[in-house]
Amino acid sequence: MNRGVPMSEILTMAMPKGRIFEEAVELLRKAGYSLPPEFDDSRKLIIDVPEENLRFILAKPMDVATYVEHGVADVGIAGKDVLLEEERDVYELLDLKISHCYLAVAGLPDTKMNDVTPRVATKYPNVAEAYFREQGEQVEIIKLNGSIELAPIIGLSDRIVDIVSTGRTMRENGLVEYERIVDVTSRLIVNPVSYRIKDEQIDELVTRLYGVV
Ligand code: PRP
Repeated sequence: MNRGVPMSEILTMAMPKGRIFEEAVELLRKAGYSLPPEFDDSRKLIIDVPEENLRFILAKPMDVATYVEHGVADVGIAGKDVLLEEERDVYELLDLKISHCYLAVAGLPDTKMNDVTPRVATKYPNVAEAYFREQGEQVEIIKLNGSIELAPIIGLSDRIVDIVSTGRTMRENGLVEYERIVDVTSRLIVNPVSYRIKDEQIDELVTRLYGVV
């Protein structure tokens, strides 16, 4: 990448691919970062923006905090859902107030959980486990990687714990919401060591983003 800029002055940011991505790019642009058109239509996984001393790595949303915890990305944009599920050793610096959604318990309408072995399918096993434990209910968690709404329809589980954004997926699959667990927005996270070493660049990023959230 660099045009004579030492790597220590370049900030690496892990960005979540998928639904958060566009909103995150828009926010960075609003904050005055000049991001090339590559951001709008590319399959690249690393995008360097030397003019801004930034390097972006494009990761699966669930993996953003992992890259930041391990220090291969200094900062990242991650959903609160991922942070709750993964409990990574990172600092949360700013609520970016984008990609609003929530985690909820859902299932087929007018159904009760099985008394003997209630089963809950989810992409968020830790969040689901903790939630039902707090409710005093012992459940079997079934971990899936997507299309969670399928589980109650085909009899794999009594309930699901999943993200609700517009509610369309649930509606179109005949599911209803039973309980709302927690609201979710995207957060700016940082690696604790990077925060000490690259404090000036990170403070600038936070200040610029703070001005537009
Ligand atoms: C998420 C989530 C729901 C859906 C909710 O899935 O798991 O299925 O979005 O959005 P809605 O309320 O606007 O319909 P995603 O699209 O990320 O894909 P996945 O099934 O692979 O998890």
